[in-house]
Amino acid sequence: MANKRIGILTSGGDCPGLNAVIRGVVKSCQQLGYDCVGFLKGYEGLYDPVCFINLTRKNTKGILNQGGTILGSTNKGRFAATVGVSDRVELDPELLRGVQTTVDQLGIEGLVCVGGDGSLAVAQQFHEHGIPVVGVPKTIDNDLSATAFTFGFDSAIECATNALDRLQTTAASHERIMVLEVMGRHAGWIALHAGIAGGGDVILLPEIPWTWENVCHKILNRESQGKRFTLVVVAEGAELPNGRRVGERRAGAQTHLGGIGQIVAHEISSRVQRETRTSVLGHLQRGGAPTTFDRVLATQYGAHAVRLVLEGKFGEMVCYHPPEIGNVPIIEAVNQLRVVDRNGSAVQAARALGVSFGDCKADESPFAFKTTAHVVPTAADVETDAEFTLDLTAEALEEVAAEASS
Ligand code: F6P
Repeated sequence: MANKRIGILTSGGDCPGLNAVIRGVVKSCQQLGYDCVGFLKGYEGLYDPVCFINLTRKNTKGILNQGGTILGSTNKGRFAATVGVSDRVELDPELLRGVQTTVDQLGIEGLVCVGGDGSLAVAQQFHEHGIPVVGVPKTIDNDLSATAFTFGFDSAIECATNALDRLQTTAASHERIMVLEVMGRHAGWIALHAGIAGGGDVILLPEIPWTWENVCHKILNRESQGKRFTLVVVAEGAELPNGRRVGERRAGAQTHLGGIGQIVAHEISSRVQRETRTSVLGHLQRGGAPTTFDRVLATQYGAHAVRLVLEGKFGEMVCYHPPEIGNVPIIEAVNQLRVVDRNGSAVQAARALGVSFGDCKADESPFAFKTTAHVVPTAADVETDAEFTLDLTAEALEEVAAEASS
């Protein structure tokens, strides 16, 4: 009699750790005497034409530490029009029927869908149609509810932190302001964690509205303390002070974010007349080998996804509630994005160290230590002897800087 079969696919934007999940699933299957098939190019391989390969110990050997995915992936195509539950677009019933037929004909007992919010929203529709799926949360953005971490995130912040380490030395040598734009879509996790780990001075997030004045104040405040360079980390999904998100709209798909770093650098340079440079880290954050943390997490996710299939827990997603791996309904994970809590401990810790989120003056942060920032009194302040307020026109900022360096 033929072995029972489990299927697996990787969908959406790739990230380090996908191959570790595949290996985890294949090795677990083999311990149990199950066969494993891998569908190619995300959900596309499930139907018309059906494209899959048999996954064996042999053809998955040595992939634990390899970036990307041996199965291929896509965030476009027939299954990509569904972005989270709030923007739900129903899949074509013809597609659903086609996938069901493939699963039945190949005798797939359970299909492991590895993806982010959009891909898992597709898995949810499969589940509602009666297709036996389990989910594995993947994304560098770390924005899925119901899990503390998605694999890929740790590798991405490692990359962004390395970039900041490198930017710091050149920024210091040239006394420049360096702006690093990082990914993350509508969540600021990558910017926040890399910013903390890489010693960012200003961190701009989608979750915390900020102003140009506060950013410039931080830069000049640092100068007044003799620190003549500044590292600014900006999340691609952060809104400009006028409420605009920078990116290009793609027909029938998610907006492709990117470009805010350049705008931030340009505006800072014109306001404080300092040499400013931008680096956009882009897809470097998605490539390369997974970190140790991501290898362990992805391996555990793979093994536990097979367990869910065995237990018949379809429509569930594996998740990480430190220190244990658990499972939650997929619908809970895709219902709403998990974004940075602006009052959370990571933000508070950063503020305590003097990091600016651009939402208040460097010396007004609830946790900031008192500084000797140079401030420019307005005429009204002088006459009334009131507390100094800041005049943050470009000219005034120049004056502050000149005073600080004299
Ligand atoms: O969701 C992962 C992600 O890397 C986001 O951080 C980024 O906005 C997007 O995908 C980029 O997508 P693409 O690979 O289509 O350019």
